[in-house]
Amino acid sequence: MKYYSISFGFLLILVLPLILASAQNGKYERAAYHDSYEGAAQDDQDQGQGPATYDKNDDKESEPEQNGQNYEQDGDDNAPSLDTPTLLDNLASDDLLSFGYYSKSCPKAESIINKYVAKWVEEDRTLAASLLRLHFHDCAVHGCDASILLNHEGSERTAEASKSLRGFEVIDDIKAEMEKECPRTVSCADILTAASRDATVLLGGPYWDVPYGRKDGKVSVEKDAALVPMGRENITTLIEFYQSNGLNLIDLVVLSGAHTIGRATCGSLQFRLYNYAGTGRQDESLDSRYANFLKRKCRWASEYVDLDATTPQTFDNVYYKNLQAKMGLLLTDQSLYSDPRTSPIVDALADAPSEFFNHQFAVSMTRLGNILVPAAQDGGEIRTKCYSVNSNY
Ligand code: HEM
Repeated sequence: MKYYSISFGFLLILVLPLILASAQNGKYERAAYHDSYEGAAQDDQDQGQGPATYDKNDDKESEPEQNGQNYEQDGDDNAPSLDTPTLLDNLASDDLLSFGYYSKSCPKAESIINKYVAKWVEEDRTLAASLLRLHFHDCAVHGCDASILLNHEGSERTAEASKSLRGFEVIDDIKAEMEKECPRTVSCADILTAASRDATVLLGGPYWDVPYGRKDGKVSVEKDAALVPMGRENITTLIEFYQSNGLNLIDLVVLSGAHTIGRATCGSLQFRLYNYAGTGRQDESLDSRYANFLKRKCRWASEYVDLDATTPQTFDNVYYKNLQAKMGLLLTDQSLYSDPRTSPIVDALADAPSEFFNHQFAVSMTRLGNILVPAAQDGGEIRTKCYSVNSNY
């Protein structure tokens, strides 16, 4: 009984921000140009390639345990508040970001970004997920200021946590075209934010309106990027990291749903497969048949494996159903279902129709894209090349 009332409470909390965001935007709806994406995205999905998909019948071992038998009721009385203000609120950045920011100075900005993302993703579909991740790594350090794009010795880009990031060439290509159309006008941070939205749409995910006006930061420090979670952290560390960026528990669980697409290198999870935490066994929070599949797949740390074993090519809520079935690929994914602070949110997202996750993803992505840090914005600029500050020219 207690469990159900907690679940219902969380469900309510999940729905509330959606309603509030809808009210703020006047309405939540897919923009007209999203509809034109859908056929193409579906075609791509139909032909989707990628790493071999996990087949539940592939292995004769016992059925996966269902529905979070490791759910623990002992809650943490110090659970963080769900209504943490974003840094955006602190900055009063309504003044900084706006939907019509480039309507006079560069009316073609969005269509250029859209066209180039589509071109690159058509050539290599895996880039769509990579762009989404690149945006997260940008915003998670110093806010969304394109600091991840700076390519110099000791920059964020050179950190261990950044080593498998991809998509830099896409942003450089867009920027080159943008400089021809509207010189020194559109920031790299805005380009990356819109590109990650367009990539999400191409993958069959939701559309959201992006407000613009971010500045490109001039500072990028390798050790700061090391703060970005890499998949081995415990849930408290993840919660605190999100909170330090003005994001809350719901954002943590919802944004982790980006792992409904894309892939990880085996090096990010092999530690779960053998002698986990010195136990001599594999991680017990991993379904044993799935673990066997991963052992076969991950002979080398550099091999790729799908983050969503069940529907890797589809942007949907099956990621959360996988967690219920102990099939989260990363330790950090699975830990969302092992901890009572986040497991009710996982259940709510898994059990509701996929559209609910999609809508909520759009809301949390907007919040991610709105993380701004005053130092980066005040001292910022509009770079002419995304990989270098202007003073180098
Ligand atoms: C809880 C925090 C997070 C952790 C610990 C985490 C960790 C990881 C790791 C370890 C990988 C695989 C890297 C590799 O082995 O190459 C990965 C991939 C990915 N992550 Fe996350 N991530 C987190 C949050 C996010 C967020 C917020 C987003 C986007 C909104 C995101 C989007 C992605 C995508 C799309 C991929 C696949 C990239 C590709 O296929 O190139 N992640 N993440």
